Amino acid sequence: MRTGSRMKPDHIAIIMDGNGRWAKSRGLPRAAGHRAGVEALRATVRAAGELGVGWLTVYAFSSENWSRPKSEVSDLMGLLKLFIRRDLAELHNSGVRVRVIGRREGLDPEIEGLLHEAEALTALNRKSNLVIAFNYGGRDEIARASRRIAEDVAAGKLSAENIGEERFAEYLDTAGIPDPDLVIRTSGEQRMSNFLPWQAAYSELVFVPCFWPDFGRAELMNAVEVFSSRERRFGGVAARDAS
Ligand code: IPE
Ligand code: IPE
Ligand code: MG
Repeated sequence: MRTGSRMKPDHIAIIMDGNGRWAKSRGLPRAAGHRAGVEALRATVRAAGELGVGWLTVYAFSSENWSRPKSEVSDLMGLLKLFIRRDLAELHNSGVRVRVIGRREGLDPEIEGLLHEAEALTALNRKSNLVIAFNYGGRDEIARASRRIAEDVAAGKLSAENIGEERFAEYLDTAGIPDPDLVIRTSGEQRMSNFLPWQAAYSELVFVPCFWPDFGRAELMNAVEVFSSRERRFGGVAARDAS
């Protein structure tokens, strides 16, 4: 088991929070905050690439975000489309592989098409990985995985005694993706909001006070620095204390 730290995180996952409050503090509509949030996302993806981070996961829209006013939901959908249309080519040229996690059924066909295009175009890229959590909720992901497991057991493709942690994880949307080492949440809120409950079981959590639109390279480097000063134990004891 890998204990101790002083290491660079290979997988950083980010809860991009605070767009609305950023806008409010400037007397702007929430939509302006979401637009500024997309700029912060661009800057962060670039910075993560420069820092050599292998995996970056971003929480873009949660299963619970459908409860927001219709107009805001539609602004957020519009921005996702815009982001993929504008940035996909650059991501592809930079060798980034894009994957999307979250529930796909019931999405607007245009969005579904764009998500599929992003994954298909970049499928063979190996330089780094961007995982977009869209229409994602951890409980929904676990329930969907359980359902598929039950179907496979019923169909005789899987036997119940073979279901352990590793096999279970293969049914999650994140199959094949390493667990995040570091989870960052901006805006000062200190909660997970249904983000990667299975995968972040042993992640280091760093809560950053700034609103998401104000996040960028410097803030990312700071969070990585905090991560490096942490001691990860994974239930064991620190190497120096083992006797
Ligand atoms: C994060 O900012 C964006 C999404 C959740 C999609 P918020 O919209 O949650 O901003 P606050 O938390 O209201 O400030
Ligand atoms: C979490 O932020 C979801 C995303 C960043 C996409 P929320 O703003 O939706 O979370 P709560 O409602 O404050 O917990
Ligand atoms: Mg929020």
